[in-house]
Amino acid sequence: MSGHQVFAADWLSLREPADHAARSEALFEDLAAVLARTRNGRRLRIVDLGAGTGSNLRWLAPRLPRPQHWTLVDHDASLLARARSQARTIVPAPADEFSVTTVEADLSDSSLPWIGQADLVTAAAFFDLVSAAWIERLSAACAAARAACLFVLSVDGRRGFLDHDGGMIDDEEDQYMQDIFNQHQRRDKGLGGALGPEAGQRLSQSLARHGFDVRLQASDWRLDCTDAPSLALGRELLAGWHQAALEQAPAASVRINAWHQRRQADLAGARRMVQVGHVDVLALPPR
Ligand SMILES: C[S@@+](CC[C@H](N)C(=O)[O-])C[C@H]1O[C@@H](n2cnc3c(N)ncnc32)[C@H](O)[C@@H]1O
Repeated sequence: MSGHQVFAADWLSLREPADHAARSEALFEDLAAVLARTRNGRRLRIVDLGAGTGSNLRWLAPRLPRPQHWTLVDHDASLLARARSQARTIVPAPADEFSVTTVEADLSDSSLPWIGQADLVTAAAFFDLVSAAWIERLSAACAAARAACLFVLSVDGRRGFLDHDGGMIDDEEDQYMQDIFNQHQRRDKGLGGALGPEAGQRLSQSLARHGFDVRLQASDWRLDCTDAPSLALGRELLAGWHQAALEQAPAASVRINAWHQRRQADLAGARRMVQVGHVDVLALPPR
């Protein structure tokens, strides 16, 4: 089944603090060191794929050396409009120091023309949507451009509920739900048969085959749900898993609803933490 997935701006802003807190600082430091060596004061050209409202830009831009020029690519014009309207407040600098262009494009049928000129290609929370063939195309384009790559927050399937001592609770019903959810994640989201939780590994292998020096680090969310923002995010996550499971296995709705109610009560009572495993991938081109 194929269909473009729509991401609500509210969902993206709800997840942004957790995303920003989870990202690997160590991989960023490695990237910054390489850019400092190779850029020679030139304007840094950065391409963000599946940029949404610009969360990745908001984390990276203040940390990267200027001047910077960003190209944000997404097929959702309304998300890009938000990104544009907020960009100026992120790095208050003159246009020759910091500039942002948005491109409304469907990455499924694009030859990725922006990558040819890029120093850095980046994406956040995007790769679970893509196929192995799409990753190959991207790796080849990044290798041809000799661009550095920072691909963060790809879900890796380590998803579930934790005790307060950090132990994973994985009862029969959680496992059942996990299986259904992973099946749903592998549906075609418009970019070929989606890799879902395998994306991070497949991405690293593909980039390594294209000659990149590849480094990985975990960037997990761990939501304790004792404060309002993490409880709100936990609830939305649970609602998303519930919805996906009902779509994938409608005949099992009684079982799915019972699981949902039980885990909702756990979150509301702060009896469980939620973990969503992610991986960040840094790939540096050969010197
Ligand atoms: C989970 S959101 C992540 C957005 C943003 N990178 C962030 O970290 O908040 C995935 C993004 O990929 C975009 N997207 C999905 N499929 C796409 C496609 N075929 N072409 C272009 N953008 C796509 C969505 O519109 C959405 O903005």
